[in-house]
Amino acid sequence: MSRRFSCGFPVKLITDDQIICFFTQTGGCQHVTFDEESKLYNCTFYQLDDFKLYEGYYFDVREVKFTLTEPVSIKFLNHLVVRDKVSADEWRMAKVHLQVMISIYSPAMAHNWVHFVFPTTVATYAPKVAKPNAVLTDLLRPHRRFTEQLNYEVLDPSTLEFAMPTVALPFSKQEFRDYIAKECDTYYNQVGQVFPSPIISRNGLDKFPYVRQMKDYYDVILKFVEKMIPYIDEEEFYRFRSLIAESVKCAADAEMKDLLATYIWQVTVIHSLDHAAMYEFYRRMLTFTSMKIQMPYVPYSNTEYWTLFAKERGVPLTWVKSNPEKYMLTDADIGDSFVLIECFMEYIPDMFGDDSGLSQINYHFKDKSLSQFQEEFKKDLNALNDAHMAERDFKGNKVHLHGLEKIAQSIRD
Ligand SMILES: [Fe+2]
Repeated sequence: MSRRFSCGFPVKLITDDQIICFFTQTGGCQHVTFDEESKLYNCTFYQLDDFKLYEGYYFDVREVKFTLTEPVSIKFLNHLVVRDKVSADEWRMAKVHLQVMISIYSPAMAHNWVHFVFPTTVATYAPKVAKPNAVLTDLLRPHRRFTEQLNYEVLDPSTLEFAMPTVALPFSKQEFRDYIAKECDTYYNQVGQVFPSPIISRNGLDKFPYVRQMKDYYDVILKFVEKMIPYIDEEEFYRFRSLIAESVKCAADAEMKDLLATYIWQVTVIHSLDHAAMYEFYRRMLTFTSMKIQMPYVPYSNTEYWTLFAKERGVPLTWVKSNPEKYMLTDADIGDSFVLIECFMEYIPDMFGDDSGLSQINYHFKDKSLSQFQEEFKKDLNALNDAHMAERDFKGNKVHLHGLEKIAQSIRD
């Protein structure tokens, strides 16, 4: 395995502000919790303990703590690095490991529930339980397009070994598939109620721009779906719900409005904005990054290790300490991550009059009242978008999240 250090890609070290942006303004907040006593936010990565990584690769970060404006500490497997208690050199080196964790976290660990199990089940059964011209069919049709096929392509064992996204990951495709199954089972069958996702009501996270904007969108979609309810055949819905409950237990007693609104919100707003925010973060803010690292966390107090490290690379140790990202990451690993980010994260609109955006939704309802509700829905979405675009984050900067123009009608990548 090549251990050549990075000199070809102009990789930059993640800044403290970017760490906060990732956890509060992108889907990176999926596993964040708030501790009332310390007033700190915390994101843990203990699920990595179960991963079998390729030999020579490491994921040593286990926790990161932060406030709304700055990171406080990074906890490794058996070492705590508190920003104010270590040198700038030590903090930069610890951040290289965190940057790798942040880079792999969204595509491999925080986005699986968005794609799998519930969306797949809806996409599979929606065309089968309702009549072709039923309101339930019309309502879900634009939101299930592509979903079933895309999800199947990723998980199909016969094509898995050749599926490109996993080239950037330091573990096998089978390992990834097993992890997705385990994580989705936890989310859908052990967390409790997921209609809507608990992320928008988790204690203390309501201050995050990501959580606030996602909740705003959920409220608008719920308002629209509530208008649909009197027009949906109850028997059709109950059949549909019992089929979903075979895979998602808590669907069994979910209310119609919550289940349908969650589905639409998840495959449109959450999926699209998570992708757009990921791409913007990894490619535009970090420029280049790596989802894998071929060295463990070793503090600088281990002078023997770091002296040898610098010697092997033919540079003074001071150079390593000034720009650890250039020496701790390899060109090959950065290149693999670049492929994943460029090919799978950004939504590429159709060249010829793309009309797949949520703002252009057309359910083709036969009933005039329903068509009127559709227009009111689009109006509400646009008003919300205007409000979101005017928002500023904790430091007065424009919020990182994209707007309505990036939200597609269904899962498309
Ligand atoms: Fe996706």
